Amino acid sequence: MILVTGGTGLVGSHLLYQLSLTEEKIKAIHRKKSDLNAVKHVFSCYNANFENLFNKIEWVEANICDLSSLEITFENIDYVYHCAALVSFNKKDYQNMRKINIEGTANIVNFALSAKVKKLCYVSSIATIEKNTTNKLIDEKNDWNNETNNYGYAITKYGAEMEVWRGAQEGLNVVIVNPGVILGSGFFNRGSGELFTKVYNGFKFYTEGITGFVGVKDVVKAMIFLMNSSINNERFILVSKNESFKNIFFKIATAFGKKRPNIKVTKTLSSIAWRLEWVKSLITGKPPIITKHSASASLNSYKYTSAKIKKNGFEFENLETTIKDVCSDYTKLNK
Ligand SMILES: NC(=O)c1ccc[n+]([C@@H]2O[C@H](COP(=O)([O-])OP(=O)(O)OC[C@H]3O[C@@H](n4cnc5c(N)ncnc54)[C@H](OP(=O)(O)O)[C@@H]3O)[C@@H](O)[C@H]2O)c1
Repeated sequence: MILVTGGTGLVGSHLLYQLSLTEEKIKAIHRKKSDLNAVKHVFSCYNANFENLFNKIEWVEANICDLSSLEITFENIDYVYHCAALVSFNKKDYQNMRKINIEGTANIVNFALSAKVKKLCYVSSIATIEKNTTNKLIDEKNDWNNETNNYGYAITKYGAEMEVWRGAQEGLNVVIVNPGVILGSGFFNRGSGELFTKVYNGFKFYTEGITGFVGVKDVVKAMIFLMNSSINNERFILVSKNESFKNIFFKIATAFGKKRPNIKVTKTLSSIAWRLEWVKSLITGKPPIITKHSASASLNSYKYTSAKIKKNGFEFENLETTIKDVCSDYTKLNK
């Protein structure tokens, strides 16, 4: 039986859809307040008759930080896809991120070891990979660097990777994927999904920073591909294209038939924006929309290569096709 954590999130829900098409038995965890309807929305993007596929999933209430709930969860599990994490650039979430991302992953690894799971696939991020200051493409050999990766989310994802490598040393077969910014349907009110909502609603700003992007369908295809392969104890960058935020925004605007953002955000404008947001969040108590880190990340230019997974026969979808498909799902879901 397959276990999926984070099945109520972007990556996990698309993964569950693809797994539901197979003969495998699937168990997925959810928390008390998780929105299972959001998962159904994702399934509906693929298939009008999604209910039968959705009903194939055995949902178990569990929290990756709660050992007693995990004990029952790991009964009869052979393969684990670990997608659950707290993704945040808000400093206030740092301790909680350490708990969920590092301790939670340590728990998953420990239960996988004691349940003699055959293989674990962990979703990490390009955040854990050292950034080159040269023009050389960034690959899996770029190790962690305390100087360049020192923001909360990256630190906790790196800590989680260390737990997975520890599991490998203790005898667990593992693969790690390091996706770039993931574009996919569903969850348009948070994370990378917000890029689509913002452009649809006439967002005016863009930056010329560059990073790696990948479609969620490619991420889950790569995870299943690696899980079913004989590859163990390796990590793989998943980036289908290095692109500027400007071009991504423009492509989304074109696919929606909306006006392109037309105000370029400079370093000065961005540093004013995150400071204003910080003050606003102090007054309102709401999380800031832009943080110091997210502001600088959208201005930096880093380019990644996925040559390693491509050498193993994996092919990515064209990113333009990904964007068009997500925009079409956005319109369908928001009718
Ligand atoms: N989105 C991206 O652009 C991106 C890029 C690179 C890497 N990643 C990585 O990909 C993975 C999936 O990201 P995503 O975008 O799918 O995130 P997401 O949409 O925010 O989903 C996070 C998932 O984790 C679950 N979760 C959080 N804390 C948990 C806990 N204590 N116990 C059990 N479940 C918990 C959430 O459950 P609830 O529904 O209950 O909240 C949700 O299912 C993460 O590891 C992330 O770091 C994401």
